[in-house]
Amino acid sequence: MLASTSGQDTPLEDIETASTDELRSIQLERMRASLAHAYKNIPHYRQKFEQLGVCPEDLHSLEDLAKFPFTVKQDLRDNYPFGMFAVPQDEIVRIHASSGTTGQPTVVGYTQNDINMWAEVVARSIRAAGGHRGDKVHVAYGYGLFTGGLGAHYGAERLGCTVIPMSGGQTEKQVQLIRDFDPDIIMVTPSYMLNLADEMERQGLDPHELSLRVGIFGAEPWTGTMRTELEERLGINALDIYGLSEVIGPGVGMECLESKDGPTIWEDHFYPEVIDPDTGEVLADGEYGELVFTSLTKEALPIIRYRTRDLTRLLPGTARPMRRIDKITGRSDDMLIIRGVNVFPTQIEEQILKVRQMSPHYELHVYRDGHLDKMDVHVELRPECFTCSDFPEKRRQELAHELSHHIKSVVGISTRVLVKDVGSLARSEGKAARVKDSRPKNNGSS
Ligand code: DLL
Repeated sequence: MLASTSGQDTPLEDIETASTDELRSIQLERMRASLAHAYKNIPHYRQKFEQLGVCPEDLHSLEDLAKFPFTVKQDLRDNYPFGMFAVPQDEIVRIHASSGTTGQPTVVGYTQNDINMWAEVVARSIRAAGGHRGDKVHVAYGYGLFTGGLGAHYGAERLGCTVIPMSGGQTEKQVQLIRDFDPDIIMVTPSYMLNLADEMERQGLDPHELSLRVGIFGAEPWTGTMRTELEERLGINALDIYGLSEVIGPGVGMECLESKDGPTIWEDHFYPEVIDPDTGEVLADGEYGELVFTSLTKEALPIIRYRTRDLTRLLPGTARPMRRIDKITGRSDDMLIIRGVNVFPTQIEEQILKVRQMSPHYELHVYRDGHLDKMDVHVELRPECFTCSDFPEKRRQELAHELSHHIKSVVGISTRVLVKDVGSLARSEGKAARVKDSRPKNNGSS
């Protein structure tokens, strides 16, 4: 059952070191079963398959998956609340939902076996981050309908860790408990971690003196530059956990401590494809496009070719034979089109962090001025800038000019930069809302 330990004291599962041939054969067998389960038990899939003239028996190879229809968020909404469940109600032991800004929430359900599988992949993820039995894990992802808190919680328990189920919010208290309970690992969104780091400093604590060793950050896009920022500021290893509620929650993929090169997808449970978002064509590994998942073992909500809207590419395995994804650039629905140029908030974040005096607290205000789309970048100064009594207006303008120049030359758009005082922008307690777009809704780009 258990294989080599890769230098950690909790052994890896056999499947984590299985050969690609072995893995592909397990995937094919599981994919057949998953397609059959969805077809047999969910009217939505039966109808979709029949419209395309395919049935589960048409899957002879993993490549045949391309014959099957995609699933999109709207399909889950149209079948709200429980129409996508493949098992009777009395087998559902848990429900989660993602709020969504418009329309109905997306509802997902789990059988006991699903909860067990989820706990296993999250335990595997924490172990990949260097965690092991006996570690104390502070969970600051929100508990409740959001999958972050409970997903992290069950996984940490499964690995044999001591869980501190703090949830999001109560920033002052979070820091007090980190100081008093000495956790080894923190699981939280990267934007809320920044908020916690500010609070540590406000309370006169040096984050490097605290017990934290590893941060398991996800639920929102974050850049490599942000990794450096978090690691240097906190004296920890900052690792990326990926997931989405429609597929399971956190733990679809996890970055390994030894390579820090993008999340390894736990391919024995979640089969990834990357497609051209415009044509739906499956792209070769290494090419950028939209990430699509098919669940291989889920019972309550088998999901077939789910279009995540997340843009990335598939990369070969390094620390594990399973494939990795590159950092998510953003979601296709987060992409801003400013005067014809496609812009992701993460691209602006990278430029901000190149300016030493600027903090990672920023907002992008997009608006229409006459017929033109414009973007203002609001960014806070770092607290250190204020120790020299005050920060003159002229200096702010120079910094604003510097950032706007970087953005123009690297990202290709003209922006107005407003350099703000420390603490003047709203802080996230979960996923950060970086973009304020006030353009008329029916005509979001020009
Ligand atoms: O955010 C699950 C999760 C919780 C993942 C905690 C990691 C940690 P949803 O609320 O359904 O689920 O949102 C899923 O969040 O499609 C991505 O757009 C984004 N996302 C999640 N993890 C990452 C990541 C959870 N590591 C959506 N990098 C996904 C970039 C991420 N984006």
